[in-house]
Amino acid sequence: MKKTREELLALLADMSIEEKAGQLAQIPIVACMDGVSEPTGPMEELSLTPEQVVLSGSVISVLRLEAEACAKVVRQLTEAHPHHIPPLVMKDVIHGHQTMFPIPLAIGATFDEKIAETLGECGAKEGAASGVHVTFAPMVDVVRDPRWGRVMESPGESPVLCAAMGAAMVRGTRGEDISAPDRIAACAKHFVGYGISQAGQDYAPIDVSHTELYNTYLPPFQACVDAGVDMVMPAFVGVDRVPCVCNEWLLKDILRGRMGFEGMIISDWDDPRQLIAHGVAEDQREVAQLCLNAGLDMDMMSFAYLTELADLVREGKMDEAKLDAACLHVLELKNNLGLFDNPVKNDSDDVQRAVCNDPEIHKAVYEAALKSCVLLKNEGALPLRQGCKVALVGSHADEHAILGGWTLDAYTERTKTLLTSFSEDSRITLTTPEEADVILLATGEKQADTGEDCSKAHPFLTAEQMDELRRLHALGKPVVLLLFCGRPLIITEALPYCSAVLNVWFPGTEGADAIRALVMGDENPSGHLSMTFPRALGQVPIHHDRLSSPRPWKEGAIYVNRYKDESNFPLYPFGYGLSYTTFQVDAAAESTTITARVTNTGSVVGETVVQVYGRIRHCSHIRPDKRLLAWQRIALQPGECREVTFPITPDMLRMYDAQGKAIEPKGVCDIAVGESSDVPYTLEVTF
Ligand code: BGC
Repeated sequence: MKKTREELLALLADMSIEEKAGQLAQIPIVACMDGVSEPTGPMEELSLTPEQVVLSGSVISVLRLEAEACAKVVRQLTEAHPHHIPPLVMKDVIHGHQTMFPIPLAIGATFDEKIAETLGECGAKEGAASGVHVTFAPMVDVVRDPRWGRVMESPGESPVLCAAMGAAMVRGTRGEDISAPDRIAACAKHFVGYGISQAGQDYAPIDVSHTELYNTYLPPFQACVDAGVDMVMPAFVGVDRVPCVCNEWLLKDILRGRMGFEGMIISDWDDPRQLIAHGVAEDQREVAQLCLNAGLDMDMMSFAYLTELADLVREGKMDEAKLDAACLHVLELKNNLGLFDNPVKNDSDDVQRAVCNDPEIHKAVYEAALKSCVLLKNEGALPLRQGCKVALVGSHADEHAILGGWTLDAYTERTKTLLTSFSEDSRITLTTPEEADVILLATGEKQADTGEDCSKAHPFLTAEQMDELRRLHALGKPVVLLLFCGRPLIITEALPYCSAVLNVWFPGTEGADAIRALVMGDENPSGHLSMTFPRALGQVPIHHDRLSSPRPWKEGAIYVNRYKDESNFPLYPFGYGLSYTTFQVDAAAESTTITARVTNTGSVVGETVVQVYGRIRHCSHIRPDKRLLAWQRIALQPGECREVTFPITPDMLRMYDAQGKAIEPKGVCDIAVGESSDVPYTLEVTF
């Protein structure tokens, strides 16, 4: 039985100031692995006392978590705590736990919320079986700059897609009731604007207007809040020159007030203490004051709350009511997780092993990989002909590390490589490039070169990779590029040397078999880009929903919005993706409903993503030229035709002014329907 609110308040009233301050601290799980009575090992290295460790409200794990060892820590801490309050165990379960889904940017490319929901559900199952209570996911930063390494963690550049995918991940992760044995709590991050980091550099400043916050960066978080997200993590960056972690306007007025978030707010790693390096706080005392006053509930890893808050309250420098309010958020999350009855969801390594090897999860991971790969170019080289001789070469041909960043608990070395997968296929013969009929070049970014602290000034294939490509092309055979990347790479120079390009991102645990199925034509590629692929670095940031220009580009015109030395258009636009079949999309508008008749005009079964874009024709405020309004993934047999309808509602085109006041769409709105964002406007609806 969960506690009632009265019981929680009674517990709170009975806790000492030190206990309450302790609840607001997150420390590393390694600090308690050797027991909680002696200050040795990591506890000593971190200058933590056994008392501080015992009173801490949460532990974070960045190493592989074993169920039995984790349960032991949780039980030990619960027993030692004066009120037997169990700790929250938190971990980054970002795109799967041990069994890895494709990276979130690839999940965005499925345009399939069911897949995002399943990702959340499977991560929660494996996470819970390993001892995790809360994951730091989903990441719903809108990402538009491929130089930023963390774009791989997001569903992509569209706030609408990020919102839908983020909400689906929240639903999948937490279910209806996070006390269920196979569910964990979800945390939306990084609140807000981290993806705008200047020049794509991690931890660089951002500059964002309130209008852009309301229209672009807050909506994915609102969608997560509406889906019941349990926790929110402020971003490392600052808004209005105030770091998010201590930004009262952002955390109180916006997140709690305007957006209605009632859960727990946790800082990012060591973020409170970073206020000192940033010159915003003098010392840990001021850190604790600034953050608690702003509404930050839990301090991840900076120990400012743990060491300073109790004294501040005792000295009358901090209002105890603020401590109580934050502590209540922590206790409520523990209560929602059912931890007061049952602090441990699983304590058996055998159960953990069984859950993490569940064939159903592997099947879901395989499906996700199939649907996330994007066929960018195909001059007939794919799918491969049966009986052909194939050379499979490149840095990723025999590589296990095809999982992407945030794979802390994955058994990377057990991941099947492409070479193993293709050698299992009796329909082809593997041979050297010289002997082959077709060459598969599996290359691109290293897994370790994507994610946090992986910004790049040169998001291209390397000089060595380009040399290899040219050498293979010179053999006079079709070269198929299997592109591994955690961000849009600028492959303009590589394209002429490739007969086909299949963008496979980092496809996850079942990636090799999924790629083989696509390459062999057993399955048909159906992913559509979640981020624009630029033609040139100078175009960055480039995205489909850029605000309009008063001098729009026009063929041949001068003094218009253009480059002198480069096209305005990307190499591949958002939403783009080819198939082994072709589709025809005929759309019509009736009142405010769009009907699209989609026909598979080719000779094989396939899936496409029908996308609807729109813009308000006249309005007081500048708005995106094109905004994604709705989409549907649809599977069709050859020759089959199906109708899909899209009701266009005012909220899809609603905007906000600098004060956050809604501007409702009025009058004519242009509508475009197709299989990519570069489809022209042909229809209208009127509000
Ligand atoms: C990252 C977060 C992550 C946290 C905990 C930080 O460095 O920015 O996204 O959740 O570490 O691992």
